[in-house]
Amino acid sequence: MLHGKRILLIIAGGIAAFKSLDLIRRLREQGAHVTPVLTKAAEEFVTPLSVSALAAEKVYRDLFDLTVEHEMGHIELSRAADLVVVAPATSDLLAKMAGGLANDLASTLLMATDKPVLCAPSMNVRMWLHPSNQRNVARLREDGIRFVGPGEGEMACGEYGPGRMAEVPEIIAAVSEVLADGPLKGKHVLVTSGPTHEPIDPVRYIANRSSGTQGTALARALMALGARVTFVTGPASVPPPEGAEVIAVETADQMRAAVLAALPSDAAVFAAAVADWRVVSASDSKIKKDGSGHIPALELAENPDILAEVSKLTENRPGLVVGFAAETNDVTAHATAKRARKGCDWIVANDVSPETGIMGGRENAVTVITGEGAETLPRMSKTEVAEKLATRIAEALS
Ligand code: CTP
Repeated sequence: MLHGKRILLIIAGGIAAFKSLDLIRRLREQGAHVTPVLTKAAEEFVTPLSVSALAAEKVYRDLFDLTVEHEMGHIELSRAADLVVVAPATSDLLAKMAGGLANDLASTLLMATDKPVLCAPSMNVRMWLHPSNQRNVARLREDGIRFVGPGEGEMACGEYGPGRMAEVPEIIAAVSEVLADGPLKGKHVLVTSGPTHEPIDPVRYIANRSSGTQGTALARALMALGARVTFVTGPASVPPPEGAEVIAVETADQMRAAVLAALPSDAAVFAAAVADWRVVSASDSKIKKDGSGHIPALELAENPDILAEVSKLTENRPGLVVGFAAETNDVTAHATAKRARKGCDWIVANDVSPETGIMGGRENAVTVITGEGAETLPRMSKTEVAEKLATRIAEALS
């Protein structure tokens, strides 16, 4: 997703600097080139050798190395990148940035750059909430500096609250968003994916065979065209797409809440195989055999239809709502009726008869039904289906 992008990564001196090692690895996995810069304090937390080994690049550490100008000068270094990421961004470095100080390599590069800057703050909760830090952050936001995090939680110092550096996938998502390019740049697309699990008791649940492959491929294809994707996923068997904002849920009720909370969006694609029913009163403790041969009966209730609810919203309805329909016979007729019943704009019907091997498989054969009619695509990989759908969505939103 970040193929060929150049990122200048400034690592300041905070305990979260260890996460930046993983950040380097994950950015490179995405195809980015990472040029690392360490502050003096950062060297107390991570060694230049490990940073350099992971980045497969020289580590820049000292302003005066650069002013000798054997290699790249600081102006050039600060501008050769497509994006400057500061992770962790300490309160000290944020204060320098807000005040325009340039007294070491990191602060000088930040003053000299003409590229977007993304900060992932990391500090103790009191330091984060301190009025001077809040003032600096507000000033930097006004200056156009972008932020990801901080998250809330237990801190290395034992306190609890905001100040924890954003997790690596969140930072990657923010980087992808800043660097996004393509017809969906600036568009927000919501994707649901995977099955839902409906608990019977703490150890048993009702589920289905959805793997999440099609939804994940769709999210990737939408991001490749520049979209910001919120990915609401049930317990899928494939890993979620890197670069999306991932919201993991278990039940249909949780998926509904997550979807409504993620709106507004420009488009919403409902690829999840949501369980139609849930167990009315799931047991809090494991249901035991009592030895009498009594077999428990499960009372089921209908789950909310998330696609239908979002399609019928009067406020916050996405501009384009796309549903999926799993059919085994009369695919187009059933899916056309489903489109009308649910009120979505498009429905993507797939033939899931067992002999097709589509459910849980790598290929898909779909018919796209819109207000203008139905088009059946030849059988192809789920990745290709995703690319075709993403292109159509981009055309519809343009
Ligand atoms: N859907 C949803 N919420 C539900 C059920 C389904 O959002 N509670 C969405 C799915 O994500 C999918 C579409 O609605 O986009 C599928 O509708 P559904 O009525 O479940 O159709 P099928 O799975 O095809 O099943 P059936 O033919 O039994 O209606």
